[in-house]
Amino acid sequence: MAIIINELSRTFGEFLLLPNLTTKDCVVENVDLSAPIVRFKKGVEPSLKLNIPFSSAIMQSVSDNNMAVALAKNGGISFIYCSQPIESQAEMIRKVKKYKAGFVISDSNLTPEHTLADVLELKERTGHSTMAITEDGSPTGKLLGIVTGRDYRITRDPLDKKVKDFMTPDNSLIVGKEGITLSEANDIIWKHKLNSLPIVDEDFNLVYLVFRKDYSEDKDNPNSLLDNQKRYVVGAGINSRDYKERVPALVEAGADILCIDSSEGFSEWQYDTIQWIKQEYNGKVKVGAGNVVERDGFKYLAGAGADFVKVGIGGGSICITREQKGIGRGQASAILDVAAARNEYFEKTGEYVPICSDGGIVLDYHITLALAMGADFVMLGRYFAGFDESPTNKIKHGNGYVKEYWGEGSNRARNWARYDLGGQANLQFEEGVDSYVPYAGKLDDGLRTTLYKIKSTMCNCGTKSIKELQENSRLTIVSSTSLTEGGAHDVILKNQ
Ligand code: IMP
Repeated sequence: MAIIINELSRTFGEFLLLPNLTTKDCVVENVDLSAPIVRFKKGVEPSLKLNIPFSSAIMQSVSDNNMAVALAKNGGISFIYCSQPIESQAEMIRKVKKYKAGFVISDSNLTPEHTLADVLELKERTGHSTMAITEDGSPTGKLLGIVTGRDYRITRDPLDKKVKDFMTPDNSLIVGKEGITLSEANDIIWKHKLNSLPIVDEDFNLVYLVFRKDYSEDKDNPNSLLDNQKRYVVGAGINSRDYKERVPALVEAGADILCIDSSEGFSEWQYDTIQWIKQEYNGKVKVGAGNVVERDGFKYLAGAGADFVKVGIGGGSICITREQKGIGRGQASAILDVAAARNEYFEKTGEYVPICSDGGIVLDYHITLALAMGADFVMLGRYFAGFDESPTNKIKHGNGYVKEYWGEGSNRARNWARYDLGGQANLQFEEGVDSYVPYAGKLDDGLRTTLYKIKSTMCNCGTKSIKELQENSRLTIVSSTSLTEGGAHDVILKNQ
C-alpha cells in the first residue's frame, strides 16, 4: 500500500509573515539581498553569488540574450533556454559575454543592393530606424554605409531605389575604432552631433554601434552581476540527453553556470550528467540540477555533486503537469521540506547547497515567503515574460497590451528533452499551455518595485539579509476567511 504523507500540500498564498521588532538600522537601504548560487564549504565564500535572489526561467519565451543582459544589469541571472540547437544557444551566450554597456551588436542590417522597400520592412519589424549597411548584410560584415530616417523621403523616393543610392557611404562616415571606451565614443558622438557611432575593427568590419542614449547605462547599475573581466554573468540550460556535445559548446562560449532543465530531476539521468560534467572539467564547471519536491530527491542530487538544487513540480503558471500526470507538490510544502534537508546536509557534510524555488510565484510577496521558507533564490517565468526584454511578441489586447508566454512542455515549444525519461525522442503529450501575460513595461522599473517590496517586508520582520530572514521569520497559516480580510473588502471601490 502507498505511504500517505499526512501534511497537506500547501502553497504560498496560504501563509503570511508575522512582523518582528524593527530596529532603527533596519531600513530598506541597509537590506542586503545577495544570495549564494553554488555550493560552498562552511566558512568559505561561495565562488558565485547573485546580487539579488532572482533567476529567469529556462524557457524560449523568457530567457534569451536580451533578458540575460537586462537581468544581470540588475544583479540577477538568466539561464538561456536549451530547447534550441546547440550553436544558437552558444551564440546567445557569446552575445551576453561580448555585451559591453552602451556597445550594441547591430541587429538591423542590409546590403547596398537592398531597396527602400526592404528598409521600410525592416524598420517595421524591428522598430529601429538606424541600419548598418554591410557587404554581406551581417552584423559583423565590412561596413559600407549607414541608413537612418534622414536618408530617404517616403513621399518622394521610389520603393525600388537601391540602398547604395541613398545611404551615407563609408567615406563620409565618422567611426570609432574597436577598443575605445564608452566615454571616448560618447565624446565623438557629441563633437559631431551624431545619433549613433559605428565601431569598426582594423579591416573596417562592423563590431558595435554606440547610441547617444545609452551612455549613462553603466552608471545607473551599481548592482550589476559581473565576472572577473567585468562581463555580465550568464547561465545556460542543458538536458540529460545531448550534454556531451552541448556542455563543451556552452562552456567555450563563456557560460558561467549551467542548470539541467527537467520537469522531474530525481533520476539516474541527472546523476550521470552531473558526474560527467564534474569529471570532464575537474569540478570547475558549475551545474544546478532538479526539479525535486522532497528531501530524498534533494539528497540524491546534492550527493551527485549538484551545485544548487531547483525545487518545484507542477506549480508553474503555464504548467499542467499535475493535471496530466498527478505528480507534484504545493510549492510552500516542497520548499520547507527541501530546505530542512539542505540544512541537515550542511550539518552533516559542512557543504551548503543552495536551493532555488522554481515556479508558482504569483504575487511579489510570494518571493519573500519563498526566501523565508528557506529558498536561497527564486526562478521566475511568468514574471519576466511580461517585460519588454522578454523575447516574445507584444500584442494589443482590449485597452492594453499582453505578451506571449508558453510552457516548454507545450506543443509550441516541444521541449521533449525536458520531459524525457529515456524513451522516444518526441513529446508524447503536453505538460504546458500557450498563453498571454499582462504587459509589464520595462524590467528595470518592475523589478525595482518588487525589490523594494521585498526589502520593506524584510524590515518589518526585523531582518537585513536573506539568511536572517530564514533564521528569524515567523509564518502563520491563513484561513480562507482571513484571506478575504487581506484584500480590500466591504467598501465600494472607486473607478470600477
Ligand atoms: P512561473 O514562474 O510560475 O511561470 O513558472 C515557471 C516555471 O515553470 C519554469 O521555470 C519551469 O520550471 C516550469 N515550466 C516551464 N514550462 C513548463 C511546462 O510547459 N510545463 C510545466 N512546467 C513548466
